[in-house]
Amino acid sequence: MNISIKLTGQPKTKPDENKLSFGKQFTDHMFLMNYDSEKGWHNPRIEPYGPLSIDPSTNVLHYGQGVFEGLKAYRTKENKVLLFRPDENAKRLKSSCERLCIPPIDQDDVVEAIVSLVKTDIDWVPSSAGTSLYIRPFIISTDPFLGVHPSHTYLFMIILSPVGPYYPTGLNPTSIYVEDFYKRASKGGMGHVKTMGNYAASLIAQEKAIKLNCIQTLWLDAHEGRYIEEVGAMNVFFVIGDKVVTPELSGSILPGITRKSTLEIAKSLGYKTEERKITIDEVIEALESSEMKECFGTGTAAVISPVGELIYKDIRHTINNNKIGTISQTLYDTLTGIQYGTIKDTRGWTVEV
Ligand code: PLP
Ligand code: COI
Repeated sequence: MNISIKLTGQPKTKPDENKLSFGKQFTDHMFLMNYDSEKGWHNPRIEPYGPLSIDPSTNVLHYGQGVFEGLKAYRTKENKVLLFRPDENAKRLKSSCERLCIPPIDQDDVVEAIVSLVKTDIDWVPSSAGTSLYIRPFIISTDPFLGVHPSHTYLFMIILSPVGPYYPTGLNPTSIYVEDFYKRASKGGMGHVKTMGNYAASLIAQEKAIKLNCIQTLWLDAHEGRYIEEVGAMNVFFVIGDKVVTPELSGSILPGITRKSTLEIAKSLGYKTEERKITIDEVIEALESSEMKECFGTGTAAVISPVGELIYKDIRHTINNNKIGTISQTLYDTLTGIQYGTIKDTRGWTVEV
């Protein structure tokens, strides 16, 4: 791709690295590329970060024909900047595009666009412990038209945000509320791809969770309300007995890149792993019999996030005395070690910018 670059004349003041939360500040530049049926994807460019001007009838504002991704750039002690598995995000973006009838972008072009933008704003990659540069690629439909059909024009953008922990509690265990009325996604729906509507559908239950002092919702399947699916912004793992267990990819949960990486790391460290159907009854029984040793979520934003409490049907169940477990900590240390370059990456997961 021939990416044109127009630099800002007014660089912003960077935020205090020790006070970073998630997704509130944005860097100096953004990437844009347009699609129309004549030219295909064209005009890749980097410009100063700023607001968009769009027609009020723009398709995505009404029907949500849009997809997004999330990945991070990490600064190592040697001052290198590493991306973690950007090819996997490009692949998932393609699969999200297919489900939403959006013309896919060549996966190498997606990675090239990410690398070019991060290079342009490389000074924004923070270096304090636990911080990183969150990368948000997204595509929106842009036809100014109120009829319901796939748009003929699209905009692909990437924005960057220096971030600290996703949850204000950091690596302290969170409380999670098991939602038994609302559903997030069903088979044949869009739960397996990263599109805006899934998150809109989740908000009402998240509000319930917050009232109960919980940080997020654990979803059950839409058909029977029995099977564990995933948490609002992360996949979920349980340590039951001596096994590290996570729900299989059912078609209605997001195939998380952190999930996939965690499974590989767990296997390589000698833990027994299982991807299978898990019922909420099995989870509650394991909690009551103390077979449930640990629980954690995995996600780019959330990293590996221990769960200390599950609230189901008004009962609070405590896990591992509300402390991070040994397996969760080991997996966290190994994953973040690879991401921050303190553990040798033998799998070719990291890409230097
Ligand atoms: N599930 C949902 C609903 C998510 O939003 C995310 C975050 O992207 C994940 C799971 C974890 O996916 P990943 O590990 O690729 O970030
Ligand atoms: C991520 O982990 O990248 C996410 O997208 C989660 C959330 C911020 C939607």
